[in-house]
Amino acid sequence: MDRTRLASAALLATLIVVAWLHTTAQASGRSQKQQEDAEFIERLINQMTVEEKAGQLSQLGMDMTPSGPVIGIEGRKTIAEVGSVIGVYGAEVTRKLQREAVQKSRLHIPLLFSYDVIHGFRTVFPVPLAEASAWDPDLSQRTARAAAVEATASGLHWTFAPMVDIARDARWGRIVEGGGEDPFLGAALAAARVRGFRGKEVPDTSTILSTAKHFVAYGAAEGGRDYNSADMSERTLEEIYLTPFRAAVQAGVDAIMPGLNEVNSTPMHAHRNLLKKKLRDEWGFQGLVISDYWGVHGLMEHGVASSTHQAVRLAFNATVDIDMVGGHYADELPALVRNGLLPLPLLDDAVRRVLQAKQRLGLFDDPYRYSDPSREALIPAPQMRALAREAAQKSIVLLKNNDALLPLPKNLRKLVVVGALANDALSTMGPVPAEGRPNESITVLAGIKQAALPETEVVYIPGASPKSSDISGIDEAQRAARDADVVVAVLGETQDMSGEARSRASLDLPGAQNALLTHLINTKKPVVVILMNGRPLAIPSIDEQVPAILESWFLGSEMGNAVADVLFGDISPSGKLPITFPRSVGQVPIYYAHKKTGRPSSKTDYFTSKYLDEDWQPLYPFGHGLSYTTFTYGTPKLSKQRLKVEETLIVQIEVSNSGQRAGEETVQLYLRQNVASITPQVRQLRGFSKVRLSPGETRTVEFMLAPENWASLNEYLSPSVESGTFTLFVGGSSVTDNQANFEVTTRSAPLTSHGL
Ligand code: NOJ
Repeated sequence: MDRTRLASAALLATLIVVAWLHTTAQASGRSQKQQEDAEFIERLINQMTVEEKAGQLSQLGMDMTPSGPVIGIEGRKTIAEVGSVIGVYGAEVTRKLQREAVQKSRLHIPLLFSYDVIHGFRTVFPVPLAEASAWDPDLSQRTARAAAVEATASGLHWTFAPMVDIARDARWGRIVEGGGEDPFLGAALAAARVRGFRGKEVPDTSTILSTAKHFVAYGAAEGGRDYNSADMSERTLEEIYLTPFRAAVQAGVDAIMPGLNEVNSTPMHAHRNLLKKKLRDEWGFQGLVISDYWGVHGLMEHGVASSTHQAVRLAFNATVDIDMVGGHYADELPALVRNGLLPLPLLDDAVRRVLQAKQRLGLFDDPYRYSDPSREALIPAPQMRALAREAAQKSIVLLKNNDALLPLPKNLRKLVVVGALANDALSTMGPVPAEGRPNESITVLAGIKQAALPETEVVYIPGASPKSSDISGIDEAQRAARDADVVVAVLGETQDMSGEARSRASLDLPGAQNALLTHLINTKKPVVVILMNGRPLAIPSIDEQVPAILESWFLGSEMGNAVADVLFGDISPSGKLPITFPRSVGQVPIYYAHKKTGRPSSKTDYFTSKYLDEDWQPLYPFGHGLSYTTFTYGTPKLSKQRLKVEETLIVQIEVSNSGQRAGEETVQLYLRQNVASITPQVRQLRGFSKVRLSPGETRTVEFMLAPENWASLNEYLSPSVESGTFTLFVGGSSVTDNQANFEVTTRSAPLTSHGL
């Protein structure tokens, strides 16, 4: 098609669309404003050349350098030729770049500025895996909101978060960025973060566009090696890995980012079946699909495209709207349209989605509305620090506390703190700290010093580091420990040992930390271990030898204060593990919602599912987490013992604080169908609720189980309900035995896998 024919075809198409918009608007009762907005976009599309359209579908990579923002090495376009930018922020900088884009582009279309704002922007909140330990969607919504407020004040319009990948293999470095192993908890947190990023239903200048990533099964990388292939049944994909994405879409997520992995032999950037058929057609997702960094290009490395031309065709056909930094859409799309290989309406659909996103944020009315230095000057605001401290406190998990060693009294004579991590400000912020600054982050050491009373001597000896096998500092640490009342060892991983491209084959403490710990234990002084890490670690020998262990992950700007709050008992820990801790790397993948197998694990039966050289059970189960008080559960009371498919079940449970201190418990409800045509999981999380109790107080916690809980996917992967008995478990972790049974009856005969 030549240019003139292309242009008149486009004009005709626009006229038809605008006429159609008028008719449907009248029919659907669309507001005048919506109508005008839609017409504005159609007019704009009509004026655009295919090059300009391809530009809108291209994202330019930029870097912040001391001399100002520069275009990254992959960039082959100018700021005025693209639709969005990744990597720059700051009210002045974005204002300047926006001016350039608006003034120099023929149609004055504003840019979208995007960045990885994962768990805070300037104020850093706990890494997502840590925050998932709070089991508190409301908290996650509030921290996402706070991140949006700070990031948008810096001119950003779009974040590549939430990362909602389910992960069950602790070797995988990106486990730190997600919500853990469970789809039910993961879905609740995904939806909460999407709501938090958006803020008000009607966007204002603190609304940041959200992106659920990495679609899908990126966390199921074989061997836990980042970017590796995922090969799995459609059922597992449906039931486990797609679930948080579905929740994000239902919560109104703005964008989806495909993973850099392949699923069942198709790279996700070319996965028409999952992107087009599942995401867009089945789920009705109307937002943007943006490639991951260089992801379109990666189709050639995957071996499904031999040229950029082919890679672009594959990605675009899979409905990937935007090419992040690759530049291939800009290079290839115009020719593909001209040669009739890509229908113009499809190109327009993608462009429309980009323009609509800009319109939603009000950028056509005022391209500079996000780049406001007066707003930027207000960050970081003091209330953000308070929220960061609250989130950090709630994310700490007490793994073990023999003889109530914790909390520590504040009037100790001498407290010896060891471990390089105790004084590592950078590591408090985790691997993706956005604009977080180490000098604004409170280390564990600083927090302890601040909280201890003046009569307590706090001595710090690094002793050993995760980064080095140097043991020369250990003797000094041991000498100091000999004279201590209590030793606090801060051990784990530095922030660059998890995150993208940071998988590990071992789950041990790296460097000389084990040697350090052995020397401390040999002093026979009470040792408290505070773990800082971005993944579950396999630490059975620490568990055997150390009386008290706090899992504190990477807790962000207020890490040290929150750790001290818990260590000295100003706050009772309430976190629960969102992920199983294995005993050894040989157990992974390990997760609580496994299948029973035909030979369920048994210590007494030889031919059962287990290891010769390792327990089959985890070190710490999913949902585990102690408190400084104790909670006692009554037996679950059910509104009915027998119910019809469409009925709702109400479960009530009495929870008492049977200890001496106030505390918060996360009450967890798990469900198991005892016999089904498809092998059931041993249990699945179906509810959780947080309850705060004073000593001696009892409260009734209520759960309502809706009919979708009885449904499972039948052998054809359609939701169906089978008559049968269910067992529900309610308690403080996934291994609770506190149970009750009920039966669900259907009118039709029960379905079996043989169809009998
Ligand atoms: C690659 C990562 O996989 C993705 O999560 C991130 O959003 C992009 N890089 C942009 O930084």
